Amino acid sequence: MPLEGIRACVFDAYGTLFDVHSAVARHRARLGERADAISALWRGKQLEYTWLRSLMGRHADFWTVTHEALDYALDSHGVDDPALRADLLEAYRVLDCYPEVPGVLERLRSRGLKLAILSNGSPEMLAAAVTGAGLEGAFEAVLSVEDLGVYKPDPRVYHLAVERLAVRAEEVAFLSSNGWDIAGASSFGFHALWVNRFHQCPERLPYGPEGQLDDLAALPELLSGS
Ligand code: LAC
Repeated sequence: MPLEGIRACVFDAYGTLFDVHSAVARHRARLGERADAISALWRGKQLEYTWLRSLMGRHADFWTVTHEALDYALDSHGVDDPALRADLLEAYRVLDCYPEVPGVLERLRSRGLKLAILSNGSPEMLAAAVTGAGLEGAFEAVLSVEDLGVYKPDPRVYHLAVERLAVRAEEVAFLSSNGWDIAGASSFGFHALWVNRFHQCPERLPYGPEGQLDDLAALPELLSGS
């Protein structure tokens, strides 16, 4: 059923617009059969460290957390290769965007919807990712948690989008591939749509998604009532 009354689409960045596993994929041959496990652990630790740092009240920006998580993942798999570490981090700055993203953003923009990124990423990381994927000009705002010094799913992060886009929470469709981010956004009051790219099981958290998509391709259709 199409959503009605939506004025803005707010997108999570990593895993939703940008393929976080494309960094390891570019250097797969150098990691051998450990590649997928390292990429999954890198992403898992990166998120875990954001939650732990927020709970500890010890914020560091997402670029620092991304380094620290990679170091943990490489160490866990016995990889000690400074050149490879540097190459993986450089690849992470300019991740591939998912193939349907540019066309979907274009269609949504042409309908007059406000589009924004709301991400844990630092402003520098997000600027590099957006430019690297050729998405300059696609967004009305690229919003980073760095303005707050706390990570998702703290409700203050979702509030940032409402404030900067000058819309009400119920006028926002929030898109994320992270089930826990969907819970945070839905709890805040957004219409949260889960982009379940990895066919994951639903989270057992309060406030689930209002809808689910395999990727972003069907989003313009879903918002046709807006
Ligand atoms: C982000 C992480 C959660 O972009 O993927 O905020």
